[in-house]
Amino acid sequence: ASMKATALAHPNIALVKYWGKRDDALILPHQSSLSLTLSPMSVTTTVEFGASADQVEINGHAAKGSERDRVLRVLEAVKAEAGGALGPARMVSRGDFPAAAGLASSAAGFAALAVAARAAAGLPADPQAASLLARLGSGSACRSIQGGFCEWRRGERDDGADSFAVQRFAEGHWPELRMVVAILNREEKAVKSRDGMKLTVETSPYYAAWAKDAEAEIPRAVELIQRKDLEGLGALSERNAWRMHATAFAADPPLSYMHPSTLGLIEHLREQRKKGTPVWFTLDAGPNPVLLTDAAHEVAAEALARACGAVDVVRCVPGGDAVLKSEH
Ligand code: DP6
Repeated sequence: ASMKATALAHPNIALVKYWGKRDDALILPHQSSLSLTLSPMSVTTTVEFGASADQVEINGHAAKGSERDRVLRVLEAVKAEAGGALGPARMVSRGDFPAAAGLASSAAGFAALAVAARAAAGLPADPQAASLLARLGSGSACRSIQGGFCEWRRGERDDGADSFAVQRFAEGHWPELRMVVAILNREEKAVKSRDGMKLTVETSPYYAAWAKDAEAEIPRAVELIQRKDLEGLGALSERNAWRMHATAFAADPPLSYMHPSTLGLIEHLREQRKKGTPVWFTLDAGPNPVLLTDAAHEVAAEALARACGAVDVVRCVPGGDAVLKSEH
């Protein structure tokens, strides 16, 4: 049997964010989240079992520390599922993120790893199993197994078996939708998402309200996507991002991911919207906003980002499923 496979996956951006775990080890969230898979950015990953020793290479460098541990954890889970003695694994991963080094690639990376590792281990293609597996590497990665709009349902079980992402709408549902990533700052963030969300869960007095509100926003977001209501979805995405950041601001010590230029861009975006440009934003745990607009206004959105100091801009369209490139 073939023991080597290569897969490609796209990153995703959450419109209703995941922020906070109920189980740190299994990566189980307190609330559900909803995202859009983004093309053309991607990560391509090759996994080969039967190597002489475990080897993890990311973007041309040997991975170390927690990054390496997370990859090995996913590979161990695949070996356990496959049941056979597959031996040590060699993984080689490379991101294709057009000229924008500031973008997080871990979601696409763990999604590509999950799909490649399952194929290399001889397991059948299975989006649900791949999503569960990708989740063990990074929570948001479970939403990059499929294209279009994916919902990560929090699940109820303690073992996490019901905590995976499902596709709600394929990428073809809303082809005119655009996401414009504005890179204002390429510096690595001071507090990683994993640590920031843990601090927020443990110390923010607003945490319970955040989790309850985010859960309630999901069916509303699904309905707006169903109707392709850009104004409604834009407004929902903005308020969800503000609420995630508000919860983090209230942590002790306080957590602020924004830069002055982030707020400058948001202010300018609101002015442009008043003048009739349909553009909204979302913001992950970092300073770089992602603008939501439609195909007719993506050039205007890029110009807006550049006018506010963006050093790089990536224009994205709804992306597709993670795919197997080859089984060797
Ligand atoms: C703000 O998925 O990177 O981007 O599960 O600890 O690896 P871990 O965290 P990660 O957190 C993503 C947080 C977010 C919101 C989101 O993508 O939903």
